[in-house]
Amino acid sequence: MPDPYVLPGTAILKNKFNLTTQQDLDDAEADFASLRLRELAQNPIEGDYGVRHYLAFHRYIFQDLYDWAGEPRKMNIVKEEPALGGLSVEYTDYTDIRKRLAQVLGAMRKRSWENYDLDKLTKYFSHDLAALWKIHAFREGNTRTTIHFCCQFADEHGFPIDRQLFEENSHYVRTALVAYNAVFSDIGDKSQKQYLEMIIRDGIENGK
Ligand SMILES: Nc1ncnc2c1ncn2[C@@H]1O[C@H](COP(=O)(O)OP(=O)(O)OP(=O)(O)O)[C@@H](O)[C@H]1O
Ligand SMILES: [Mg+2]
Repeated sequence: MPDPYVLPGTAILKNKFNLTTQQDLDDAEADFASLRLRELAQNPIEGDYGVRHYLAFHRYIFQDLYDWAGEPRKMNIVKEEPALGGLSVEYTDYTDIRKRLAQVLGAMRKRSWENYDLDKLTKYFSHDLAALWKIHAFREGNTRTTIHFCCQFADEHGFPIDRQLFEENSHYVRTALVAYNAVFSDIGDKSQKQYLEMIIRDGIENGK
């Protein structure tokens, strides 16, 4: 099926600025999405950490760039990962995105975060963040949306996290999320959780 999100015959996402090269689009993202992320860190988006709240984060961050900001993707995606020898994480089928978001966010809201020590905070926060990311609810911009949504959640639940650590190590964080979610229907569970858990533990400790 042709990808309706890209300019025909290219891998470049259609965008509000009508940019037609990846470099120009990367530059615009670096300017506009980064500005919105800085605003977000100062001015939280109020909400109940449900599905609409999660979608609102993406809408806010990517409002300047994409018409579909805040909308779940309407197609299935694969992304070849060097860390998986070219395999893709098995992202949620697009028809199940809202249902799966509701499940993961429901479980996250029910936990008694206030009673957890550092080990438990690290384990369960890593688990929920990775589960949310594995859905890959959007055509693009999932890592930034998930990280900032989860950091605001942590701020509000009494364990503020050092966001700068994630920003400065964004490549590591994305690879760690891939490693955490390396579970395949054919070759089984190849997941490695320790990389994500390490940086999340550091983020919680630095945020204190
Ligand atoms: N937490 C963050 N804060 C600020 N910038 C980030 C953060 N995480 C990633 N970035 C920057 O955003 C750009 C794109 O990131 P990346 O492609 O890894 O994730 P994404 O587009 O958010 O999600 P995905 O491609 O998985 O849907 C990179 O230039 C990266 O440096
Ligand atoms: Mg990306």
